[in-house]
Amino acid sequence: MGPMTVTAPSSSGTLRPAPGAPADDRQRAWWRTAVIYQVFLRSFADGNGDGVGDVPGLRSRLGHLAALGVDAVWVNPWYPSPMVDVGYDVADYRDVDPRFGTLADAEALVAEAHALGLRVLLDIVPNHTSSAHPWFRAALAGDPAARARYLFRPGRGPGGDLPPNDWESCFRGPAWTRTVDADGRPGEWYLHMFAPEQPDLDWTSPEVRAEFEDVLRFWFDRGVDGFRVDVAHGLVKAPGLPDARGADRRTEPHPGWDQDGVHEVYRQWRAVADAYDPPRVFVAEAWVPRPERLPLYLRPDELHTAFEFDPLHVAWRPGPWRRVVERGLAAAAASGAPSAWALTNHDVVRQVTRYARSQPPEKGSNEAERARWGTEAPDLELGRWRARAAATMTMALPGAAYLYSGEELGLQEVEDIPDARRLDPIHTRSGGTDPGRDGSRVPLPWSGTEPPYGFSPPGSAPTWLPQPSGWAGLTAAAQEADPGSTLRLYRTLLARRRQLMTGPEPLEWLSAPEGVLAFARGAAQCWVSFGPDDVALPEGWRVVVSSRPGVDAVLPPDTAVWLVPVGAPEPAA
Ligand code: NOJ
Repeated sequence: MGPMTVTAPSSSGTLRPAPGAPADDRQRAWWRTAVIYQVFLRSFADGNGDGVGDVPGLRSRLGHLAALGVDAVWVNPWYPSPMVDVGYDVADYRDVDPRFGTLADAEALVAEAHALGLRVLLDIVPNHTSSAHPWFRAALAGDPAARARYLFRPGRGPGGDLPPNDWESCFRGPAWTRTVDADGRPGEWYLHMFAPEQPDLDWTSPEVRAEFEDVLRFWFDRGVDGFRVDVAHGLVKAPGLPDARGADRRTEPHPGWDQDGVHEVYRQWRAVADAYDPPRVFVAEAWVPRPERLPLYLRPDELHTAFEFDPLHVAWRPGPWRRVVERGLAAAAASGAPSAWALTNHDVVRQVTRYARSQPPEKGSNEAERARWGTEAPDLELGRWRARAAATMTMALPGAAYLYSGEELGLQEVEDIPDARRLDPIHTRSGGTDPGRDGSRVPLPWSGTEPPYGFSPPGSAPTWLPQPSGWAGLTAAAQEADPGSTLRLYRTLLARRRQLMTGPEPLEWLSAPEGVLAFARGAAQCWVSFGPDDVALPEGWRVVVSSRPGVDAVLPPDTAVWLVPVGAPEPAA
C-alpha cells in the first residue's frame, strides 16, 4: 500500500478559518470539526415515568453529554405526531408532543445546553407531513387550496383503479393511496414515499415553501442552532410524475428523488439561516444514487454538510474501509464542505451487531443484516471490539462526526423484541417478514441491574420497547466506574481528538502491513488492524489512545490506536 495524500476540505477559504483566525471565526465554523450526538429522544431518558423518553429526561442527562465531550446534540423529531413513524409524521411543526414535554421544556433545554457549551440541532421533516396535519385533513375534506399543497392525482386504468404511476414506498408497497370522496365514491390518489400516514408535500407550492421558511425561523428565534434535514433529496419530484420503470432509487436516477429543483429550496433556506447571528447550520440526509451529485447540495449557498452513509454498511475489512474514507474525503475536497461521518443511526442495525457476524465482501444492507439474525449467531464480544476500533478510526478522520444514542455504551441491536411489541412500519408493511428498525431504538440503560436500568423513575410504566435482561454491565453508571469501558474510551477519544485530530492538515495514508490501515494527521497517526495477525507498531511512536486496553508495541487484531512521536509532550488531560 503506497503512501497517498488526500487533501482535507479547503476550497471555501472564507468559511474555513485559518488556524490563527480570530476566535469568533473559529466559533462560527464549529460544525466543520464538531462531534454531534444524536439524541433519539423517546429512548434517551424518561422524565415523567410513562416509559417514553422526553425533554425533561434529556435535560436531566445533559451532564452525560457534556462529560462525553460532544459539541452539539441533534434531537430526533419532537413535534406533535400520531407517532406512526416515531415522529417523522409531524402534525404541528411549531410545538412539542405532550408525550415529550412542552414548548417551555424545549426552550429550557436549549438554554441549558447552551450554558454547558452544547449546541442544539433539531430535525426538520419537509418531504411529508402527518396525515393528521390540519393541511392534510382539509385536503381530504376537499379544500382545493389544501389539496394543492400535496400530490393528489387521478388513478389510471378503468375507473381510475390503478395508482397514478409505478413508484414504490420506501416502506414497501405502492407509494400511492386512494381517497374516498364525500359522496362515498373512490376518489383521487395521493403520493406518500413512506407510510400512507406520511403524505408527500408538493414543493412547487409557494405556500409550502413559505410555511417551512417560517418554521425554520420559529425555532431559530428560540435559539436552535440548526437542523438535520430529513429526506433532503426527496422534496421535489420530476414534473408530470413519470413512471420510474423499475429504477432502483438507491443506485439509479429516479423521478421521485434528487431532482434539480430541490436546490432552489435550499438556497432560500440558507438565506434564512445566514440572516441569524451566529448563522444557523444544516446537515442533509441525502441518499443520492449518484455520489457525484452530493456536492450540489453543499454549494456555498446551500446546505453546510451531508452525512456520509457508506460507513453505515461497509464491511469490517481494510480495503472497503479505505475506499469509503477516500470517497468521503474526495467528496469533501470537491465541495469544500467537511465530511460528516457516522457509524450508525436510528435507521440501521447497530455496529456492534453488524461486526459480530461474518463480513460481506464489500458492504451489507439493513435487509441482508436482519435476514441472518435467525441463522447466524452473533459474537458480540468480537463485534464490540471492532466497533471500538471503528470509532477510534472515525474520530481521527478530518471533518465532523455523529454519534448515535447508546453507541458510546457499546449497545448491540436488540434482535429478540417480540413481534407484538414492534412498532416500526417497515415491520408491519413487510407483513412481519422484516423485523424493522426497533432493535436499534431500545431505551438506554443508565444504572442498576435490571430493566428499566434507570431509564425511567422507579415505579414507572414499562419502557415503550422492552430492554434486554443482560445490560447491567453496559449501563452508563457501570461504565463510568470502569476505566476500560466503551464509555471511557469515547470520552478519551473526544478529548484527544480536539488536541490531535482537528487541525487543517491533510490525511496521509502510510504504508502498513496487510490487514492494517494507517494514516497520519499532522503530528499524530492512527493505526487500525482488521486482523487476523498481531502487527508491530512503528518504533519511535507511543500509543496515546487505544480501542483495547493494554496495547503498547504490538497491535492486536480488531484494534485501533493513535500514536504520537516518543518524546512529544503529553497532551493536557
Ligand atoms: C429518514 C428518517 O431517518 C427515518 O427514520 C424516517 O422513517 C424517514 N426519513 C421518513 O421520514
